[in-house]
Amino acid sequence: MNEQLVPIYVMGKKYDVPEGLTIMKAMEWIGYKYIRGCGCRGGFCGACSTVYRMPGDYKLQVGLACQTTITSSMYLTQIPSYPNPKAAYDLNKIENPAKAILEVFPEIAKCVGCGACVKACPQKLRPIDYVAAALRGDWEQTAEMSFDCIMCGLCASRCTGELVPYNIALFVRRYFSKVVRPKPEHLINRNRDIRNGQYDLAVKALAEKSAEELKKLYDQRQFEKI
Ligand code: SF4
Ligand code: SF4
Ligand code: FES
Repeated sequence: MNEQLVPIYVMGKKYDVPEGLTIMKAMEWIGYKYIRGCGCRGGFCGACSTVYRMPGDYKLQVGLACQTTITSSMYLTQIPSYPNPKAAYDLNKIENPAKAILEVFPEIAKCVGCGACVKACPQKLRPIDYVAAALRGDWEQTAEMSFDCIMCGLCASRCTGELVPYNIALFVRRYFSKVVRPKPEHLINRNRDIRNGQYDLAVKALAEKSAEELKKLYDQRQFEKI
């Protein structure tokens, strides 16, 4: 049976590709080889941000290349990276988090509430709201609202105030988990066991195995019951 081909435009060039493929698979089908801009292939790593437009529609649309299925005549470009210098801070030295957030991310005050970030988020998050919660010091809400962020960068690419919302959320989640949230008992116990050397022999035995043996063990692993 012949494959049904549909046209798509990748960075301005037309290709006919089998319908039903994801953008990522379509790009590989036409010959692109992913060295960057592709990670998990499962919608979790945020490496494959893509922008596209459909003919006759002025709206800029977004999606993850590994999750979005191609549509006939879509006009697309992947933006695997967006400028985002690493924010530097030491959580151990923060005494006043409300002050620290303004010092590390002074641009947070430039959020104009336009909502462009909401339209851009493939995870259906609302950076506008988690940024506002961070600004008013509601760490728990920021952490909760941004929990599913995959740091794809699409909100930053559209932000009118030139914020990098996901970096702000990451700062808050780190601070909240380290300082505010009660420490889970099972984690404290596991850390103690590791420090006491309870797993040293097991780790040594793993380090001595071949790649093949490790793959076999990985396939046979038992999932921890939660
Ligand atoms: S909040 Fe921003 S970085 Fe996070 S998933 Fe949504 S668009 Fe991507
Ligand atoms: S796009 Fe930027 S300025 Fe607009 S609401 Fe979102 S964070 Fe605020
Ligand atoms: S490759 Fe990880 S989200 Fe698409």
